[in-house]
Amino acid sequence: MTQASAAAVPKEPPATSDLVDVRLVLWHFTAGMVFLAVAILAGFLFSLQFIQRYPVAGIELFSPGRWRMVHTNGVAYGFLANVFLGALYWAVPRLTLRPVYSRRLSWFIFFAWQAVVLATAVGLVLGHAQALEWGETPVYVDPVALLGLMLVAVNFLAPIFQTSGPMYVSLWYFIAAFIWTVLVYAMGNFLPQYFVGGAAAGAIGGLFIHDLVGLFVTPLGWGLMYYFVPIILKKPMWSHGLSLVGFWGLAFFYPLTGIHHFLYSPIPLFLQHGAVITTIAIEFVVTTVIINFFGTLAGRGDTLRTNLPIRWFYTGMVFYFVTCLQCSFQTTLTFQKIIHFTDWVVGHAHLVMLGVFGFWLLGIILYLWPRLVGSNAWYSDVLNSWHYWLTMLGTLIMFLDLLVAGLIQGYLWRDLSPWEDSLRASMPFWLVRTFSGVMITVGQFMFFWNCYKSWRLGAPAGAPRREPSRGSMAPATA
Ligand code: HEM
Repeated sequence: MTQASAAAVPKEPPATSDLVDVRLVLWHFTAGMVFLAVAILAGFLFSLQFIQRYPVAGIELFSPGRWRMVHTNGVAYGFLANVFLGALYWAVPRLTLRPVYSRRLSWFIFFAWQAVVLATAVGLVLGHAQALEWGETPVYVDPVALLGLMLVAVNFLAPIFQTSGPMYVSLWYFIAAFIWTVLVYAMGNFLPQYFVGGAAAGAIGGLFIHDLVGLFVTPLGWGLMYYFVPIILKKPMWSHGLSLVGFWGLAFFYPLTGIHHFLYSPIPLFLQHGAVITTIAIEFVVTTVIINFFGTLAGRGDTLRTNLPIRWFYTGMVFYFVTCLQCSFQTTLTFQKIIHFTDWVVGHAHLVMLGVFGFWLLGIILYLWPRLVGSNAWYSDVLNSWHYWLTMLGTLIMFLDLLVAGLIQGYLWRDLSPWEDSLRASMPFWLVRTFSGVMITVGQFMFFWNCYKSWRLGAPAGAPRREPSRGSMAPATA
């Protein structure tokens, strides 16, 4: 394989139906959207607690802290993981020209994963959470989830290792993600639970939290961007060299950043300093990746206006750059003195998880959905446009609102003002957060409705569903 071949636009096979189980992609996307609906409603519900309007106060099953965990676990494992899997079932066989290891296994994974997410949600509501940040999944779910991740790795690594075609950039990221995710999940869920305690467990918890973002979500997200962006723009990536820098930079620096969640803690200072330095280094790596993607867009800027998936992708990339830049400042001990434990962090988390990865996955669903349901077009471009603007503006407002709230809280705490003062000062910002949440939620429900109606378009009552064929679709427009 030459470098040039790996940098080229992935070639699509003539017939995809033997390679890609379209129904599997569709089901994963649908499941992802169902969990997204539950998760954002849970987020909205929890936000009402902050503004003292919690409608179901005093009922144990609705205790707000539990629904916070339904929100976070729902978006991560229900929405992001499902849509990632669907997109991988579409992309990996096309990149390798080989089907995944086993179609049966794929369906088994599908149902097992839904069972894992459901058991997690029910377990959390019943109060079975573990005291591990992002590892709250009940003890009885952890081994099943780990087994599921291993099966996912086998299913996708088989065609990747068997392919005799080019090893596209996307595939490097996918290989890394499959291996890292299994290791990260095992480390974060089992080591602090059973083997280590105290500051060591804290250090591992910090690594786990950030490795979930950096070694699971990030490589899958970028891998998919390296696949979908050149396909839609119909041109190769701007620089293969920069793709290499981006990948190896991520592999080298990202695993070390996690302890930046626990600065000023009893974790040895050299580890804390290491985390600060690698977090700042990541920003340089990210800049190379962003330059590469904007270099690729050069000459095709009109697609930002005319092609909605591309707009979702590039909005996500701008947000990605902003969050990483923000991260390289907020990781310093100087910034930490003010922002630690404040709403600044929650604003940051929403920009990363929703504004970047959520946007990329919504863009991917937008691009593939008409192909999956055989409708040839979206039911309504207007609804799609509303979805974009409501989600984008809602996310931006939530992010800026929580940033300012965080600064105010941080300064009030530093000045040792009474706790109640910081609550009173935060109230207007929490109100705005709920409103921005409503914008996001309404946007998603418009999208779900549009997906449903487009699916109905593709399958008029009694008519056999058409097998979607590549290239037959008009691009989703704004
Ligand atoms: C796909 C959309 C969303 C994603 C990916 C997402 C992601 C997250 C994440 C990662 C956190 C944890 C933050 C942290 O611990 O620092 C969080 C917390 C939270 N989210 Fe969301 N969120 C989404 C939508 C929403 C919506 C629509 C609302 C409605 C207002 C909302 C309200 C909240 C609240 C209230 C918290 C808890 C904040 C706290 O404990 O102080 N989220 N969300």
